[in-house]
Amino acid sequence: MIKLFAANWKMHKTRAEARQTAAELAKLAAATLPQGREVLIIPPFTAIDAAVDGIAGAKNFHVGAQDFYPATHGAFTGEVSPAMLLDAGAAYALTGHSERRHVLGESDAFVGQKTAFGLAAGLKVILCVGEKIEERQAGQLQAVLTRQIRAGLADVPADTAPDAISLAYEPVWAIGTGLVAGPAEIVEAHALVRGLLAEKFGAAAGEIRILYGGSVKPDNAAEIIALDNVDGVLVGGASLKADDFSRIVLA
Ligand code: PGA
Repeated sequence: MIKLFAANWKMHKTRAEARQTAAELAKLAAATLPQGREVLIIPPFTAIDAAVDGIAGAKNFHVGAQDFYPATHGAFTGEVSPAMLLDAGAAYALTGHSERRHVLGESDAFVGQKTAFGLAAGLKVILCVGEKIEERQAGQLQAVLTRQIRAGLADVPADTAPDAISLAYEPVWAIGTGLVAGPAEIVEAHALVRGLLAEKFGAAAGEIRILYGGSVKPDNAAEIIALDNVDGVLVGGASLKADDFSRIVLA
């Protein structure tokens, strides 16, 4: 399986900064990217085309979006459709990132609506799931992942191409905190995710990428990426500087 190294820039970078960081990253990592790896840059909407410019010509580099609205067009002030993202040069999009669930109040059902809509519109979708610290402490890891994944995939066709959908396991308590989940915690959660994917997709679940996210850094990336059922990483803070992120993708 081709491992995916995704840079979630969140609400950072102007167009000029995005173009420059993307170009720097391509310069540092494109020629030496190991076989079986690809890189995805996920800037804010306004900088998607600038990031596309920045990576021009870099093999196995892609650009994605952090969010979208599940409709083709219409009276949805402030929102952006999948077709607009494809038009701007994004091939991928996230759904259900914890900041959208917990800061912006998105429900499991809405995340599911977006996931199915984005796939049908031709985006590759990365559905993000993960438990809060109080849920983990209450022994609810499996229940939370089950609920989020069943709802997230509810309207996704079972014959969806395995390379069109990915999952990202991001424990909320590890995002932006410097607290990385330990190897045993990551392996346990990713095995649960793989099992839930099998419920939906059968044998094809084995070909669906499961990314880990939450305080991935240059010095822990190699260990994380080598764990069972870890098919990539979704990186926030350590993806903002080309130098740091190049050390992750080359780890
Ligand atoms: P972090 O963010 O790497 O800064 O913890 C990960 C994410 O939110 O995708």
